[in-house]
Amino acid sequence: MTITEGLAELADRKRAVRDGAAPDATRRQHDKGKLTAYERIALLCDADSFHEIEPLRRHRATGFGMEARRPDGDGVVTGWGTVHGRRVFVYAHDFRSFGGSLGEAHAAKIHKLMDLAAAAGAPLVSLNDGAGARIQEGVSALAGYGGIFVRNTRNSGVIPQISVMLGPCAGGAAYSPALTDFVFMVRGVAQMFVTGPSVVRAVTGADVTAEGLGGADVHAATSGVAAFVHDDEESCLADVRYLLSLLPANNRETPPREPSGDPPDRRTDRMLDLVPADPARPYDVGAVIAELVDDGEYLPVHEHWAPNVVCALARLDGHVVGIVANQPSVMAGGLDIHAAEKAAGFVQTCDAFNIPLVTLVDVPGFLPGLDQEHGGIIRHGAKLLYAYCDATVPRVQVILRKAYGGAYIVMDSRSVGADLSFAWPRNEIAVMGPEGAAEVIFRRDIDAADDPGQVRAQKIKEYRAALVHPFHAAERGLVDDVIDPRDTRATLVAALDMLRTKHADPPSRKHGNPPM
Ligand code: HXC
Repeated sequence: MTITEGLAELADRKRAVRDGAAPDATRRQHDKGKLTAYERIALLCDADSFHEIEPLRRHRATGFGMEARRPDGDGVVTGWGTVHGRRVFVYAHDFRSFGGSLGEAHAAKIHKLMDLAAAAGAPLVSLNDGAGARIQEGVSALAGYGGIFVRNTRNSGVIPQISVMLGPCAGGAAYSPALTDFVFMVRGVAQMFVTGPSVVRAVTGADVTAEGLGGADVHAATSGVAAFVHDDEESCLADVRYLLSLLPANNRETPPREPSGDPPDRRTDRMLDLVPADPARPYDVGAVIAELVDDGEYLPVHEHWAPNVVCALARLDGHVVGIVANQPSVMAGGLDIHAAEKAAGFVQTCDAFNIPLVTLVDVPGFLPGLDQEHGGIIRHGAKLLYAYCDATVPRVQVILRKAYGGAYIVMDSRSVGADLSFAWPRNEIAVMGPEGAAEVIFRRDIDAADDPGQVRAQKIKEYRAALVHPFHAAERGLVDDVIDPRDTRATLVAALDMLRTKHADPPSRKHGNPPM
């Protein structure tokens, strides 16, 4: 073969990979409301930055007509490019080839890319639109998934791993994303399930659509699998680019700083209006976060799941921070099983990637109830406790209004390792609210009184005056200062600036044994 012939064949084969093996394959993909793998990569990466590897790799499977069907690329596009000028590794299923299903060669391409991403210390983004294990390749396909899972796990906490769900993803195509840091889904086109609707129908008799079983809204609001949900691929991939701008390339770096025109010492004047003095009145903590952070801009993570706690990435004086905040407008901000799991995962992710934590506390306690106790609130609540106790990034707590009992301790109190804790005046920090406390410790006095109502009111007043205010905690060093709410941004910026050089050596052990 001459060089001219070789180059001509190369061009033909690469064109076939881009255009799809069957002539109408691209049209069929578009008819389903989906983009092709290459179109997606073009939206994700900076223009002309993508370098593909192994576009010519093909399977060597036999039987079931496989010898006659050996498309170049084997149903997955792999390579690296840049996002905002920073290196990322990307693989994208090509649904036009075997429904994006994973066979031995397909898996080997992904394994190689994951190893390269780890070696280069750069994020891995998977664009998933695949039918799971390739049925024709049997156990070789299953082994291919094993290789992905073990790499997902080994790369966990080393490089950011982001999964973007852009089609029906079954079996292994759903499990690999579950091992990664962030899952994005697009409504209407993405579904995730371990067993699809037909199997569910055959085994359980339940008639359910793919969207009802594992659509984007199900996973964003009910199962908690998806951290982000979008209406279309364009906005989804734009948000993946935004998320990447908030993450470091790997666990040895910090996220890039992006200074803004928002003054670090800006007075947060609106705080006094945003948080009502009456501890029983709800408000939106999202507005408090917006008032605090640079330019009012923050990215909520798992916005629709466990909305009684808000987890968000934002910038303070240009530095990325992870914010965990109770949400008093949902269930009065009480902590339940899902909220504890959500916040635990977020704290762990921030800690892994050197993102300081700011915890905004306004919590009445853990949600009481049979469902919660029987559902394992002890086990799940312990996940949040463990995540905070284990975190070595800079940690600053701000108590906005009330902080009661175990929920106060869990929400990054100083006693579990917050570096600094600040409280606004008019705070309530105590084991429980004055009404409940009076019923427990003064019950005999109240019952014996001629006027129980008057004694109860008197005891509540005494208890409140003695214990339920921030000065009790400040006098004992459990909060580092009581601050003017209008100074909250400046206080946080100064605290995090001081903590920038914090260094903590974890204890010598193989790894901890967190509640799972
Ligand atoms: C090989 C597959 C395939 C598979 C689909 N195709 N699934 N080829 N292996 N697993 C092929 C189809 O034959 C078809 O080929 C093309 O992909 C598109 O499939 P359609 O069914 O026409 O598309 P659609 O209607 O969009 O439905 C997509 C789908 C459905 C929902 C993914 O195909 C499906 O349910 N497939 C089976 C999914 C599955 O059970 N996978 C195994 C999971 S177990 P042509 O040539 O006609 O275009 C697993 C093990 C690991 O992954 C578990 C680890 C924990």
